[in-house]
Amino acid sequence: MKRRYSALLLILLASGHAHALDPQVSAPGKHFEQREGEGLFKAICQGCHMAKGQGAQGAGAYPALANNPRLSADAYPVFMVAQGQGGMPAFKSFLDDEQIASVVTYIRTHNGNAFNEPVNMATVKALTGR
Ligand code: HEC
Repeated sequence: MKRRYSALLLILLASGHAHALDPQVSAPGKHFEQREGEGLFKAICQGCHMAKGQGAQGAGAYPALANNPRLSADAYPVFMVAQGQGGMPAFKSFLDDEQIASVVTYIRTHNGNAFNEPVNMATVKALTGR
């Protein structure tokens, strides 16, 4: 197990995807101070999804959040941020419900997305179980 992890580390480092190991993201129990969507996006999401949400291909595939019709309903991006899936980490232990709503609002209203309806807090609470 330990050996497999080191191999993964090497692959990530060699491919220039060391940002996936950003200690801000991977340290257990780390809570983020930022309250605003933009600050949270910069601190957390852009390491993988890139500054303009354009995504990246490398050791893994980081889908574009820019111009992404899958963000039209709030539940899907809230689910991804809260619970994760595949290579997307779960952030519900690191972010409170308001922070999740803020960062999801940010990605739904920037970089070519204009899904302006506010994120429903009941949806966030249902998906974080809080
Ligand atoms: C460690 C890298 C990483 C970080 C950090 C990260 N993501 Fe992701 N994200 C991914 C990967 C990989 C996927 C694709 C997951 C899959 O295979 O389903 C993904 C998928 C997504 C999707 C679904 C996109 C689609 O078209 O289906 C959304 C929405 C998303 N991320 C939002 C965010 C937000 C918001 C943040 C910051 C709070 C964030 N991600 C942080 C790696 C990351």
